[in-house]
Amino acid sequence: MSDFLERQPLGHSDLVSSRLGIGSSFGLPQKVVEHAFERGVNYLYWGSIRRPGFGQAIRHLAKRHRDELILTVQSYARLPRLIVPSVELALRRTGLDHFDYLLLGARNEVPSDDYLEVFEQLRDRGKVRFLSLSTHNRPLLKKLFATEQQGQNAVAYDMFMLRYNAAHRGAEKDVFPFVPNRPRPAILAYTATRWGHLLDAQKMPPGETPLSARDCYRFALSNPNVDVVLCGPANAEQMDEAISALEAGPLEQEERTRIERIGAYVYEKHQPSFPDGGDTTT
Ligand SMILES: NC(=O)c1ccc[n+]([C@@H]2O[C@H](COP(=O)([O-])OP(=O)(O)OC[C@H]3O[C@@H](n4cnc5c(N)ncnc54)[C@H](OP(=O)(O)O)[C@@H]3O)[C@@H](O)[C@H]2O)c1
Repeated sequence: MSDFLERQPLGHSDLVSSRLGIGSSFGLPQKVVEHAFERGVNYLYWGSIRRPGFGQAIRHLAKRHRDELILTVQSYARLPRLIVPSVELALRRTGLDHFDYLLLGARNEVPSDDYLEVFEQLRDRGKVRFLSLSTHNRPLLKKLFATEQQGQNAVAYDMFMLRYNAAHRGAEKDVFPFVPNRPRPAILAYTATRWGHLLDAQKMPPGETPLSARDCYRFALSNPNVDVVLCGPANAEQMDEAISALEAGPLEQEERTRIERIGAYVYEKHQPSFPDGGDTTT
């Protein structure tokens, strides 16, 4: 069995996740999400865009399989008090009584204590269980890890979400070496395809064929610091390809060398769609 088919315990939670998670932004139809669950994918992230078909899949799957699912709801709210109605609306639309993770989306600064208090209120009311944060400012993570280790954060984050792919490997230097071990938060990687650039024939080094989405996911999954890689498929074919990354397992050395060569070229020649804090060139 490929290593990537084995599920992974997430940080200090009691949850065990497939190595691939699905994001809802690209409009995957309800049936395709449900089929992916039957094939072993149990991490579903209702963000950055909450597409209705994805919400219906959550509603349908949760009726029979709630305990097997790991469900994240994201809020980009820039006023802490707006998170509560946002989560309550998501609960109504999915028919759930709770989400597993509340994700504070795209936080480039340390969230104020008001955010943590809102999380605690929602958690105490049984609406969410764990706290998660995504960032486009990787140096923030090192800072958060340090304060967490010193017990200075009012609430512990259970999961962090960050950009990591063959073109953007900065996390190998400025995040992964600093992830605390005890307690260890879960790490999710997004933009494995670099907004599709690694799949784009126009962006390849001369003479190279583009990478496949499958190999982009395999690259991110191969890093031992990454627990789950998010994919953003738009249709059944793309979903199949993402799942094929789990079946194919870790990269052979020759494949890795090629992927790293292409990633380095794309990084050097093509601007990111969205720069991260921590990038050397933007
Ligand atoms: N909270 C945050 O800070 C944050 C940050 C980044 C991403 N996200 C979310 O994370 C989720 C995953 O997004 P991602 O960018 O990480 O996903 P991704 O899988 O790296 O990229 C999705 C893109 O890849 C293309 N794609 C996917 N599978 C393909 C295939 N088999 N063949 C060809 N093209 C394929 C799609 O292009 P086409 O649409 O052109 O087909 C789409 O533009 C989404 O819900 C996204 O909104 C959140």
